Amino acid sequence: MEIDRRELAKTAIAAKERAYVPYSRFRVGAALLAASGKVYAGCNIENVAFTPTNCAERTAFFKAISEGEKEFKAIAITGDADDYLYPCGVCRQVMAEFCSPDDFKIYLVKNENEIREFTMEEILPGAFTVTDLEKGRRPE
Ligand code: THU
Repeated sequence: MEIDRRELAKTAIAAKERAYVPYSRFRVGAALLAASGKVYAGCNIENVAFTPTNCAERTAFFKAISEGEKEFKAIAITGDADDYLYPCGVCRQVMAEFCSPDDFKIYLVKNENEIREFTMEEILPGAFTVTDLEKGRRPE
């Protein structure tokens, strides 16, 4: 499947409009392409207690997973800055749970024409995975 990164970028830019950000006023949008071909949009959703805040990337992932998706091809991410927005550490770990280290594409979208591409391995090198968990010794 050929990924239309520009189309994914446009969906992320549109998703940003739906951000709920009364506290930071910083909007983020994401568009996640599942292996099924469906695209799941996400925005950040803030909360007055701050910690319940959900990033745009995790909104997109949780929407998709709750609809039965388990395999993903790419995500486009864009924020309210005149620069590329890198996903936070928590979102990188969520991505690592479901996405291959070298096949999954992360597109950082400054605008429709300026897009940077990364792999999972590049963005979260040495990720903690189920393999590490299985290697662990267990107390008797
Ligand atoms: N935010 C995201 O949605 N994604 C990121 O990768 C970085 C941060 C949101 C969380 C919060 O609503 C606002 O940006 C400021 O941190």
